[in-house]
Amino acid sequence: MSLPATASDYRALARRRLPRFLFDYIDGGAGEERTLAANVDDFAGVRIRQRVLVDTSRVDTGAVLLGESCALPLALAPVGLAGMMARRGEARAARVAEEAGVPFTLSTVGVCPLPEVAAARGAPFWFQLYMLRDRGAVEVILDAAWAAGCRTLVFTVDLPLPGPRHRDTRNGLGATGLKASLLRATQVLARPRWVWDVALRGRPLRFGCLESQLPGARSLDDFKAWVDAQFDPGVTWRDIDWLRARWRGRILLKGILDVDDARAAVNAGVEGIVVSNHGGRQLDSVASGIRALPKIAAAVGDAAEILVDGGVRSGTDLFKALALGARGALIGRGWIWALAGAGEAGLRDYLDTVQRELRLTMTLAGVTRTADIDASHLDSD
Ligand code: FNR
Repeated sequence: MSLPATASDYRALARRRLPRFLFDYIDGGAGEERTLAANVDDFAGVRIRQRVLVDTSRVDTGAVLLGESCALPLALAPVGLAGMMARRGEARAARVAEEAGVPFTLSTVGVCPLPEVAAARGAPFWFQLYMLRDRGAVEVILDAAWAAGCRTLVFTVDLPLPGPRHRDTRNGLGATGLKASLLRATQVLARPRWVWDVALRGRPLRFGCLESQLPGARSLDDFKAWVDAQFDPGVTWRDIDWLRARWRGRILLKGILDVDDARAAVNAGVEGIVVSNHGGRQLDSVASGIRALPKIAAAVGDAAEILVDGGVRSGTDLFKALALGARGALIGRGWIWALAGAGEAGLRDYLDTVQRELRLTMTLAGVTRTADIDASHLDSD
């Protein structure tokens, strides 16, 4: 195959390397996958104004996200089970992201333990929280995240229950669990790779952040049942106060799509929000993040920092997100495809590509600083 140049190329590589059920777990969305498609299509519908004869000899792609200077207005989104897509996946991605100058977010359901990610990155990173029924367990997790150097908590609020992912159902991920799917994959595919290595040796693959919280439910087998039993659909705005009393750092509320919820988030005093539909994996037929963004940005103004995700694949998409009112964007599938498809080198190359694309887009749109990118750079005809 020719050298990968885009997120789709890494997706193709990931498809070749991963067992089907893992590829589908990443690739798929909820229901009929209409929102999943809209996330990408809505970016395609945004047009940029090309401007000429502007001095663009110095273009700076840097941005400040949640008080941190970043090389790009971009953070790696939390991706559950990333450590199954590549060996020590979260730790390696965290290191590459640090080299590239962008935040990395470790999911509650990441595979690598917090201290391992901290050691690999050698710098602070973001931690994503799902609220569990067992608040004592959440307190332990928060303390562990703080001790690992995390200062930004990404609190995901759009998953009171896991969305209906039909591909996962068809692949047996729901009914029989991950371990059984891994074992099936070892029987179907001849070449041993590390995922089936884990399955064949019978070593339980553990969930790093949750390890101490999962007595009797530490292996993949029990994971789905544990998630169903533990994720708390009773979470309300009052829990933000509860969290605030236990987290001294910044809070970024992830999964906001509605203007009223965005206003409530501001009233709750969070530092930022992520306009997101969870990569089209939760409620099908909701709007894409990029479509919901302008109204939310208008309602929130400077009262909280606004990030967006869903369908961001390139530096040009990043430019559009900023033009429509975001301070920055998160990338989910793009980074996991690059890591799964071509390892650390793939992720490094992908992030370089995104930066080059952003610089090029800024140059051709005649804007030299990310903070200056706004709706005036879009073609609204
Ligand atoms: C996710 N996402 C997610 N979000 C979160 O808050 N915690 C998590 O554990 C996960 N896990 C997860 C797994 C996989 C395989 C995917 C694809 C996504 C959602 C993620 O953070 C982000 O919102 C979306 O991925 C953004 O959309 P794109 O970039 O994938 O189109």
